[in-house]
Amino acid sequence: MTTNALYTDLSGYYDLMCADIDYTSQSNCVRRLHQIFGNDRASHLDLACGTGPHVQHFADFGFQSSGLDINQPMLDIARQRCPNADFSLQDMCNFGVDNPLGLITCFLYSIHYSGSIDQLKACIVSVHRALNTGGVFCFNSVDKHKIDTTAFVRHTAEQDGSHFSFSSGWRYDGQGDKQSLRLKIEKTTNNITQVWQDEHPMVAVSFNELKALLEPYFEVHIFEHDYDKLILWDTTSGNAIFCCVKI
Ligand SMILES: C[S@@+](CC[C@H](N)C(=O)[O-])C[C@H]1O[C@@H](n2cnc3c(N)ncnc32)[C@H](O)[C@@H]1O
Repeated sequence: MTTNALYTDLSGYYDLMCADIDYTSQSNCVRRLHQIFGNDRASHLDLACGTGPHVQHFADFGFQSSGLDINQPMLDIARQRCPNADFSLQDMCNFGVDNPLGLITCFLYSIHYSGSIDQLKACIVSVHRALNTGGVFCFNSVDKHKIDTTAFVRHTAEQDGSHFSFSSGWRYDGQGDKQSLRLKIEKTTNNITQVWQDEHPMVAVSFNELKALLEPYFEVHIFEHDYDKLILWDTTSGNAIFCCVKI
C-alpha cells in the first residue's frame, strides 16, 4: 500500500490514534525555538500537516499558519478544524509558497516520508527556498543507527461503541537508506474484531548525514527529543529535534 492510500484509509481514525500525543507541548516548544533563533515573521507552514493539530496551535499563538499535505482526506479534516488557515495539496519534497515564511515545521517524524536521500535533499531545498533569511525550520528525526526496532507503541481508545487498539513501531534492517513504520489497528465491535495492518516506507538517515545535508543551507542546532525542556542534544540519543536557521 502506498503512503497516500494508507492515510486515505486512516484519515477517519487518525485523531483517535493520536489522542495521546501532546500537540500543545510540541507546538509550544517550537514556538520557543522560533522566538530564540528566528526572525520576527509570524508566518508558519506545517509540512505533512495531517489533520492540522499543529496548524491550529500556531494560529492560536497568533501566527498566520498554513499546512500542506499529500493526502486530500487528511487536508479535508484539517480544513474543518482550522477554517481560517490555508491548506494545500502538495508534496513536501517539491513545494512552493506565495510569500517567504518565518517558520516551517514538520512533526511526528514526517520528514522521513520523503522516502529517499534524494527526495530528502529536495525537501530541504524546497524549505530553504520557502523561508525568509533568518527563518527557522524545525522537525524531529530518528537516527538510523539508533532505531529501537523492538519498541512498539500501543494505546487503546473507545469510539461509537467500538474498542480500538493502535500500535506502531519502526523496522530497519541495519543497512541502507530505507526504514519503515509498521502500523496495526484492531477494531472490536460487538465481540467481532477487524485487524488492519500496514508497513510503509520511509527514508533512513544518520544524524551525521542529516547534518551534512542541512549545513549548506542552514545553521543547525540539535536538541534532545524533549518538548518540555530545551536541552542540547547529547550526541548519543537517537531521537532529536532539529532547529535550522536559514543562512
Ligand atoms: C504521521 S502523519 C503526521 C501528521 C501530523 N504532522 C501530525 O503530527 O499529526 C504523516 C502525514 O504525512 C503526510 N505525507 C506523507 N508523505 C508526504 C509528502 N511527500 N508530502 C506531504 N505530506 C506527506 C501523510 O499524508 C500524513 O498526513
